[in-house]
Amino acid sequence: MIHRPRRNRKSEAIRAFSQETRLHPNHLVQPLFLVDGKSKKNAIKSLPNMFQLSIDNALKEIETCLNIGVNSFILFPAVEDSLKNKTAAYSYSQKNFYLKAIKEFKKKFPECCLISDVAMDPYSSEGHDGYVENGKIINDKTLPILAKMSLAQAEAGIDIIGPSDMMDGRVGYIREALDTKGFTETSIMSYTAKYASGFYGPFRDALESAPKSGDKKTYQMNPANKREALLEADLDFSEGADFLMVKPASIYLDIIAELKQNFPIPIAAYHVSGEYAMLQAAAKNGWLDYQKCLDETLLSIHRAGADIVITYGAKDYADNYIKKEKA
Ligand code: PBG
Repeated sequence: MIHRPRRNRKSEAIRAFSQETRLHPNHLVQPLFLVDGKSKKNAIKSLPNMFQLSIDNALKEIETCLNIGVNSFILFPAVEDSLKNKTAAYSYSQKNFYLKAIKEFKKKFPECCLISDVAMDPYSSEGHDGYVENGKIINDKTLPILAKMSLAQAEAGIDIIGPSDMMDGRVGYIREALDTKGFTETSIMSYTAKYASGFYGPFRDALESAPKSGDKKTYQMNPANKREALLEADLDFSEGADFLMVKPASIYLDIIAELKQNFPIPIAAYHVSGEYAMLQAAAKNGWLDYQKCLDETLLSIHRAGADIVITYGAKDYADNYIKKEKA
């Protein structure tokens, strides 16, 4: 035998220096669910260890994460039903606690990186990402609302705007609105290839944001399609996106690899609520080892081509990463 690949696996040291990929906590983004009020830490039934946090508790969580190398956070608001309406007006109201949260986080931790969510669903009485008229999602009536939301977040000091709505033309529309008002430094991470997935269930529980009628298939992508992701990526890139995102992540590794090969900007992947909840549920039953399987999942997403991984397991991954480094 000339080639014996096992020789390169014979000791920990040899395995380590021949390791092709490594995922440092700096590449991870921890999602945070925010609620209005004080001292709130509401459990989310379908997302173990995740909570709706008020600003004071979220500040503590950010500090914990910063101490272990997780510097980036993606923020989602859990909005009271009475504040939701057809035009998602609360999203850009000066009273919105989400905007207050952005200001306070940046004031206390100017070094952290904050990514917003831009979409109507957390604020919409219809639970859809776009403006609804006669049961239809109206693309071009949604764009000005997304732009107002983005401007309000930019004014509050967000680092990166995260349009998750999948309306056509929104990246260019938001870029122009930001530039016109002088926010040329505010970045855009576009949810480029966001699939109409069953894996968003626990997230919709967390925000009580499930659509009141219909589904999201007229705007989110068909899971069967790969070439269409290239079209979406072409559009977002040419409209000025700074980052392209694929979502979900672990079951769309081929899409991540495709975008990585074809576009010269960082690729992000969102390991979504359902992907995380599955690991937690199986571990709770004693069927698999949560930490091992989380590490392997996130490494695979990175190996496929994601520079940035958004995951509910960011803190757990980083904690364990540090433990392993010390060992
Ligand atoms: C909605 C949005 C969703 C997620 C992020 N932004 C859900 C949806 O499209 O219904 C899902 C994230 C997750 O499941 O973790 N704008």
